[in-house]
Amino acid sequence: MKVMCVFGTRPEGIKMAPIVKAIKKRPELECVVCITAQHREMLDQVLNLFNIVPDYDLNIFKPGQSLTEITTRAIKGLEEVITKEKPDVLLVQGDTTTVFAGALAAFYQKVKIGHVEAGLRSGNLYSPYPEEANRKLTGVLSDFHFAPTERNRQNLLKEDYPDEKIFITGNTVIDALQYTVKDDYIFHIDSLNNIDYKNRRVLLLTSHRRENIGTPMENIFSAVADIVKKYEDVEVVFPMHLNPKVREVAYRILGDNSRIHLIEPLDYEPFTNLIARCHLVVTDSGGLQEEAPTLGKPVLVVREETERPEGVEAGTAKLVGTKYEPIYNNLDLLLSNEIEFDKMAKAINPYGDGKASERIVEILLKNS
Ligand code: UD1
Ligand code: UDP
Repeated sequence: MKVMCVFGTRPEGIKMAPIVKAIKKRPELECVVCITAQHREMLDQVLNLFNIVPDYDLNIFKPGQSLTEITTRAIKGLEEVITKEKPDVLLVQGDTTTVFAGALAAFYQKVKIGHVEAGLRSGNLYSPYPEEANRKLTGVLSDFHFAPTERNRQNLLKEDYPDEKIFITGNTVIDALQYTVKDDYIFHIDSLNNIDYKNRRVLLLTSHRRENIGTPMENIFSAVADIVKKYEDVEVVFPMHLNPKVREVAYRILGDNSRIHLIEPLDYEPFTNLIARCHLVVTDSGGLQEEAPTLGKPVLVVREETERPEGVEAGTAKLVGTKYEPIYNNLDLLLSNEIEFDKMAKAINPYGDGKASERIVEILLKNS
């Protein structure tokens, strides 16, 4: 049985890597890896870490390209690869434009599709944008829905997907985390080694969502900048997404404080070990909402909606929106009130046991 894994961005790479490894362990399966390279450097970092050499690299990356350009160039490239390889199943992971393009390209050639991380819903088609739509569109085309949690399964049942096509597997991000987080990890980056993690409270910041670019991102960064002014023992590390629209706002609002470290995107290994060492996380990222609760770090989610309510329900994550005041006030509360902080700083893991990839492989073998 030939399984083609298609991915294009950093988070898909991180979450697909354990599946590629699990497929390659099984002699009954042939694994073909095709990357669209919707991301370039940020995806290459992941490929290097997990030692994955793609069989096909569509190399579609162009700075600043539109959603339509990404979609059309990915579909066109994938058409050729699928025609040549004729896989039995094509796997896509998550909610990016590569995911939807991969599913559509496979559907056009009547190749079965497995959707990894299926069934997440925010309920708002424009938030996250365009990810909520990508998930729904991919769901319609898929034969296997690999849902991380029971809630994700329920979301799919509500949309009338047949129960026998939905499989609860956990999220493969936990498989990836187990591969990288180590108690005795030493950073090889000066800016991270020079931080005094014992006597400083390190706030890890990431922000990149399309719907946050503009005023919401200005609000997020201004609240963080003002909190750093108030608390002298707080340092911020922001490994900035490569999108120039994010960087411009970051440099403008956060650029001029020696306790705010604006650094390049980190490899996954140092990044996850930085989560493990930080005090709290402020983010609009999807993946971080899964990783931080797993590592027992409070997360302030700077978005209006989340398709990952499990962390919020468990009390480790708080959805604080994108307006200045709630972000500032929630940061202020967590930094000044130990009881409130301790309530959130607990390790919970609704997202899996690190065996999601093996489960996905077993399901493919049993059902094909
Ligand atoms: C994409 C996904 C988003 C996912 C995010 C993860 C879509 C529409 N969006 O958003 O769902 O959460 O990836 O990070 O699929 N850039 C580089 N080098 C890189 C990567 C990006 O320079 O390696 C810059 C380019 O200027 C590029 C811009 O970032 O145009 C945006 O990249 P794009 O893939 O269009 O969207 P993301 O915001 O990264
Ligand atoms: N990440 C990383 N280096 C960084 C920032 C993030 O390896 O500098 C990882 C993070 O651990 C998570 C994933 O990238 O697994 C999240 O990617 P991103 O926030 O870009 O996308 P999203 O999850 O929001 O789709």
